[in-house]
Amino acid sequence: MTELIVEVRDLWHWYLRGTPLETVAVQGVGLELRSDDLAAIMGHTGSGKSTVVQHLNGLLRPHRGTVRVFGQDLGDPRLDARPLRRMVGLVFQQPEQQLFDPTVGDDIAFGPRQLRCTPEEVRRRVRTAMERVGLGFDAYKDRYTFGLSGGEMRRVALAGVLALEPRLLVLDEPTAGLDPRGRAQLLDSIRALHAQAGMAVVIVSHDMDVVAELARSVWVLAGGRTVMHGSVREIFARVDELRELRLGIPQVSELAHELRRAGHRVRTDVLTAGELAEALYSGTSPSSP
Ligand SMILES: Nc1ncnc2c1ncn2[C@@H]1O[C@H](COP(=O)(O)OP(=O)(O)O)[C@@H](O)[C@H]1O
Ligand SMILES: [Mg+2]
Repeated sequence: MTELIVEVRDLWHWYLRGTPLETVAVQGVGLELRSDDLAAIMGHTGSGKSTVVQHLNGLLRPHRGTVRVFGQDLGDPRLDARPLRRMVGLVFQQPEQQLFDPTVGDDIAFGPRQLRCTPEEVRRRVRTAMERVGLGFDAYKDRYTFGLSGGEMRRVALAGVLALEPRLLVLDEPTAGLDPRGRAQLLDSIRALHAQAGMAVVIVSHDMDVVAELARSVWVLAGGRTVMHGSVREIFARVDELRELRLGIPQVSELAHELRRAGHRVRTDVLTAGELAEALYSGTSPSSP
């Protein structure tokens, strides 16, 4: 049985509220996440994605509307959000900027030490977290943090959050700025976390290809509101609406549409390179009209 772990209803949030610079960042977002979700929140820069996800671990509190996470009501000013920070691991945009310890192992150990875990427990958590992001414990624990590649640093930052052993993992623009190899490795790690570690995962992204490759369910934000939600295939089938929102569709879907316009009988609801290849070899499929 899956359980509803996040319920956001009609969320509003302002920055610099009550000053001449006041901006409304979020104005009526709704979303739900279940304990087995692998979801994406997608939308343009400025659509409110980062603001929304910072509510999920209590870093921000709702100014209007409801945010309920693991049964806790974030609108209640008396709520102590600290336990929630452990259950909801939030990996910020460019998280490598928040690494601070010169050695990889110590950086990842920071969280568990703050939780006053025993040295054995700290070591176990650091080892597990490193293995989950594809950084071998023995090979990397004593490495100089700031000498790593961009992709490795990002995986160290992710391991630091995993060492808190969250039940929900939230990643804000996880692949932004990575090279194709770093991006592919990170997406593999995220998939494995969901499949093997049984964690609910939500990524924030404005990259349609990343969403298509990774997510199962999608929430689309525009202008601080939720404008679409559905399975990844349902969302990317709504091509005209996505174009209107200037979000577009994944590159492989675009290519399938091109081929179809050129007269090839190829289905257009493909989301990954593998699906496109399959569609090309089979020529057609039951779902093509
Ligand atoms: N710390 C902040 N102070 C003032 N305005 C902000 C701040 N953070 C975000 N905003 C504004 O709020 C809106 C939503 O931003 P954000 O949640 O970062 O969107 P996204 O993550 O989708 O790019 C934007 O108009 C942005 O300029
Ligand atoms: Mg953002």
